[in-house]
Amino acid sequence: SLPSQVTLCDVGPRDGLQNEKQTVATEHKVELIQRLQEAGIRRLEATSFVSPKWVPQMGDNVEVMRGIARRPDVAYAVLVPNAKGLEAALPLKPDEIVVFTAASEAFTQKNINCSIAESIERFAPVVAEAKARGIKVRAALSCALGCPYEGEIHPDQVDRVAAQLKAIGVDHLGVSDTIGVGTPRRVQAALERALKHFPLAEVSGHYHDTYGQALANVYASLELGVATFDASVGGLGGCPYAKGATGNVATEDVVFMLNGLGIETGVDIEALVDAAAFISKVLGRPPVSRVARALLAK
Ligand code: HMG
Ligand code: MG
Repeated sequence: SLPSQVTLCDVGPRDGLQNEKQTVATEHKVELIQRLQEAGIRRLEATSFVSPKWVPQMGDNVEVMRGIARRPDVAYAVLVPNAKGLEAALPLKPDEIVVFTAASEAFTQKNINCSIAESIERFAPVVAEAKARGIKVRAALSCALGCPYEGEIHPDQVDRVAAQLKAIGVDHLGVSDTIGVGTPRRVQAALERALKHFPLAEVSGHYHDTYGQALANVYASLELGVATFDASVGGLGGCPYAKGATGNVATEDVVFMLNGLGIETGVDIEALVDAAAFISKVLGRPPVSRVARALLAK
């Protein structure tokens, strides 16, 4: 049977906006986060503490974190690529940090300018320091299904890097289909490898929807009992180092499916679609998600 409850992490403010060419005003980012938490989102990625030379859109990370009216029942996560990022993030008191590497050597090099082995070495003290301060550490494992530079990725690669992340003390693994090429059975194979190293409650799916497979992949994950997913309001997103990759699965599309399955999320779909409409207006284009388009046309 499928899980009765699912936890969604909205990555729209981070994954969703990092790829936007136009500068999005800090106040709009803060309002998006405000609207997400009002819609019942209880975990979200607020921003990244990466190099502003690499990802200028996240350059207002401190201001975003300071601008949020934080709720005690919401977990605020930030991306951290190295010790410098952690040092910058700590004064802002994130509830979680997300370190990120990949199952592909070439992508790791393009995205964080080091090898997979170097990334693990770099993360080890970051993970230790965060955990010593009571901050939960998630890892995103990019290109778990396919890589824009290396093509199809074998589940053995997921197995290998997941083991290394576990060994340095990471709490949670996000199996990430960066370019959206995964299909249900392959996604299950990747998740099964992750589940060798992390408990069911600490494995999540992060599926980009480039090839329209993301919702099917969420369902395939539910079949394995995986009950935690990243999703992005309005289907926003992409990665500057994965050309052509589109947004994450839209949070409202996932909520619509889960509502239909009788699976609880605690999210109010109408309020979520309003948040999608808000950020779409800021960006000057309609939301890509089917559910937002359908509900907004009513
Ligand atoms: P580097 O150039 O190798 O870093 O970049 P470095 O250590 O040699 O430092 C170079 C300069 O950057 C120095 O400044 C550092 O101080 C500065 P300078 O002396 O030249 O003035 N610097 C920093 N500044 C601010 N914050 C920091 C930081 N670190 C160094 N944390 C680095 C290496 C990792 C920093 C760089 O490659 C980077 O920032 N990469 C991030 C790329 C990124 O954000 N990608 C998108 C997020 S991942 C994603 O979207 C995938 C995910 O959604 C899952 C999926 O879908 O697959 C999570
Ligand atoms: Mg992503």
